Amino acid sequence: MNLALNAIDATPAGGAVALRGRATAPGVELIIADQGSGIPPDLRSRVFEPFFTSHSNRPGGLGLAISRRITEEAGGSIQITDGAEGGAEFRVRLPSL
Ligand SMILES: Nc1ncnc2c1ncn2[C@@H]1O[C@H](COP(=O)(O)OP(=O)(O)OP(=O)(O)O)[C@@H](O)[C@H]1O
Ligand SMILES: [Mg+2]
Repeated sequence: MNLALNAIDATPAGGAVALRGRATAPGVELIIADQGSGIPPDLRSRVFEPFFTSHSNRPGGLGLAISRRITEEAGGSIQITDGAEGGAEFRVRLPSL
């Protein structure tokens, strides 16, 4: 949910957010891609730090830290790449139960 809300926040009005899922050999992969301005490579580890946020009008910056913790506790991982839609793409890999 946080990754989808971030993608919507990042995408200009009228743009699209794509949610995809696919089975992988050990589990599943969820892909959340947006049409925002993307995340430069040097910021890709910093956005997961608690309280790193670009919102100046409300407190924030915990979503990705919590998302990563939940994913890693389940044995998975989150990766950021350049999306095919022109913005950021988050890939969540989860092992099967
Ligand atoms: N899809 C994205 N495109 C561009 N920047 C992003 C994207 N997702 C996250 N970010 C950047 O990473 C920051 C941290 O995201 P995070 O979800 O941790 O916190 P937040 O959305 O600012 O606040 P909240 O605690 O409400 O989730 C965002 O403020 C934004 O600067
Ligand atoms: Mg967020």
